[in-house]
Amino acid sequence: MIGKVHRSKEFHNRAVKSVPGGVPSSWASSRPVPIWIDRGDGAYLWDVDGNQFIDFHAGYGANIAGHGNPAIVRAVQQRVTQGTHFAQPSADMIDVAEMLVQRFGLPKWRFNNSGSESTMDAIHLMREFTGRDLIVKIEGSYNGHHDSVLVSIFRSADDLGPQENPWLTPGEGVPQDVANLVRIVPYNDLAALERVFLEHEGLIAGMILEPMMMNAGIIVPQDGFLQGIRDITRKHGALLVFDEVKTGLVVHPGGATKLFGVTPDLVCLAKALGGGIPCGAIGGTNEVMALIDEGRYSQVGTFNGNPLTMASAKAMLSEVLTSDAYAQADAVGSYILQNSLDALKSHGQPAYGYHFGFKVCVVFSAEVATNYRKFLTFNTAVSHLHFLKQFNGGVFLPPWGKSESITMSVAHTKQHADQWIANMDEFGRTLAQLEDRASADFAVGSYN
Ligand SMILES: Cc1ncc(COP(=O)(O)O)c(C=O)c1O
Repeated sequence: MIGKVHRSKEFHNRAVKSVPGGVPSSWASSRPVPIWIDRGDGAYLWDVDGNQFIDFHAGYGANIAGHGNPAIVRAVQQRVTQGTHFAQPSADMIDVAEMLVQRFGLPKWRFNNSGSESTMDAIHLMREFTGRDLIVKIEGSYNGHHDSVLVSIFRSADDLGPQENPWLTPGEGVPQDVANLVRIVPYNDLAALERVFLEHEGLIAGMILEPMMMNAGIIVPQDGFLQGIRDITRKHGALLVFDEVKTGLVVHPGGATKLFGVTPDLVCLAKALGGGIPCGAIGGTNEVMALIDEGRYSQVGTFNGNPLTMASAKAMLSEVLTSDAYAQADAVGSYILQNSLDALKSHGQPAYGYHFGFKVCVVFSAEVATNYRKFLTFNTAVSHLHFLKQFNGGVFLPPWGKSESITMSVAHTKQHADQWIANMDEFGRTLAQLEDRASADFAVGSYN
């Protein structure tokens, strides 16, 4: 059982005076107080109150190497003594690019520093390549925090507008005129996509999507959906971008691109690639990347290809993410999923879920979400209660439990999974005792 979080509260109270919200990124905020982390080791985390957790948050899925992975530590330690920034290429970059070519089947790669930079570069390339301005994105999907894609994200049902013609609601700080360059389609709806392309013939530069939607639990592509998008974009002379910031290297050694066997024109990576060091990458076809080769698109950034990032990414691709690591993740992930669903079923609680590589997702609903609107109908209070039950049972999850899946690292074993499963069983028992699942709110659970 987790102890109190007094020191986290103290840190928070001090931080809010000089840091808005007391957190470095608004999504690190959580009720009743953000948890301040002291250190990590392998599959474990310790907060500033000395509470130990099994880490299934993995820093929003970035840390599949596990904390203090010896291969990453060695690579980073060696690099850090030899200089960490020159803004000139270093040899490790070539190895990283060559290994990404092998894994994703796209021949050219460039580097940047975050998922948002990757999707921003991809959108620029898409527009420059086609000479068109409009882009298509998925309703409710998050593709980073730059203006072009901060449209129709994390909205409530009241903000979505009619299904056949969704509102182009801009994110905070984004002008409506920029949002008007986006067209929104629901995930898994090829007919809507075809309609949008026909209505804007010759005007759409391309489409960006996560091949699996990852900010709504996990929503998987129905049979033929990804190939259908590939065909429609080609037919209309538009590009296809897979945002694999979350899925890349995590759901399969070659990302969702290899898992589903559909190759886009551009792939965006970040998160897991850096082994815990900030990173980003875009892979593309020879035709699209010729824009960079020929100087028609200047893909730039002071820290692009940073030597520390490249050293860590090289260790990640060559030493950490081995076929044995994926085999272990498959064994532990399927064990978690099956036992979680069985535990909930034993208490009469409906749920479904998925397991892909290092990701597992359990959704507390009898009905399966195939798009964002459906996902919005699921009860957020139930997911938050689950977050609290896992927290109090020594398992750390992404604070906004409903939207996120969990991420394992190479250090996670069935022993760690057993703790999660025991907490899930306890959670199922609590839910069964509630007269009404809608009442499963914060009052039922809190940090102990
Ligand atoms: C699918 C997807 N794309 C892009 C991003 C943006 O990545 P970053 O936070 O590194 O800018 C995220 C971040 O969570 C993401 O989940």
